[in-house]
Amino acid sequence: MEADARIEAELRAALGRAAGTGCPPRFAAALEHAVFPGGARVRPKLCLAVAGACGDPDPALSGAVAAALELLHCASLVHDDLPAFDNADERRGHPSVHAAYGEPLAILAGDALIVLAFETVARAGAAAPERLPGLLSLIARAVGAPVGIAAGQAWESEPEVDVATYHRAKTGALFVGAVMAGAVSAGADPAPWRLMGEKIGEAYQVADDLLDAMGCADAGKPIGQDAALNRPSCARALGLDGAVARLRTLVAEAATAVPDCAGAPMLRELVTAQAKRLVPKNLAAAAA
Ligand code: IPE
Ligand code: IPE
Ligand code: MG
Ligand code: MG
Repeated sequence: MEADARIEAELRAALGRAAGTGCPPRFAAALEHAVFPGGARVRPKLCLAVAGACGDPDPALSGAVAAALELLHCASLVHDDLPAFDNADERRGHPSVHAAYGEPLAILAGDALIVLAFETVARAGAAAPERLPGLLSLIARAVGAPVGIAAGQAWESEPEVDVATYHRAKTGALFVGAVMAGAVSAGADPAPWRLMGEKIGEAYQVADDLLDAMGCADAGKPIGQDAALNRPSCARALGLDGAVARLRTLVAEAATAVPDCAGAPMLRELVTAQAKRLVPKNLAAAAA
């Protein structure tokens, strides 16, 4: 099965468990709304690409890990959009979860998706129990404290923030987790994959800052939020040209950081192809 179809099937199966029999109906609908339709699904794609490059001997496990990463990402978006954070009414071209279902269900949907992610890995890990502790720790580190998504969002409540530290935690950590968990799910050493994850994660956040600063007709979410909320942003720190140059450098570094393995050429291509999508279209045209 193609990676895209695999990811959607794994997510569907996980949601079927959480939003199934016994779930309060509006809560089930809020959970569904948080995950479908998806966005780029870039984290699970990367995870599966790395697992594939490492031979992917246990596709049930790598598929579950990929789905878990996307569930955690969706949860982070639901919480990020809440009035207490970015107060965003639109996400992926639709009302955000709290805009559609209210704040209580949005908070709970984020919570339940985080729990579902760990349950999804735990269930699939029965096939390769020796990999489970490493996988669960890697994923937990990517989303919790001290340097995961929760910590990244927490930097917004500090009087002083270093933009690189903030970005590494709120965005980079899950990319690092995605590539390293992809390797572990295939029984490979995750350490050589860290640098690639760091570079892609940083590139992705620079691109998101550019999108926020420049806007684009089909962003599907509010733009201009970083300036309005006084968030640290690469586009604000480096200027638009500086941020585009930084993005290009990071993408080149990410491709170079792909460790030597049978799947390396395919992965370098994937990184470069995904990167092309990252530069907002109006900026790409201006820079051409
Ligand atoms: C948005 O992530 C939030 C960031 C961390 C930059 P994505 O751009 O991957 O969002 P979706 O999943 O495609 O909607
Ligand atoms: C979101 O960062 C990162 C998360 C951990 C959810 P942003 O607030 O910059 O992302 P968008 O622009 O809302 O997608
Ligand atoms: Mg935010
Ligand atoms: Mg936001």
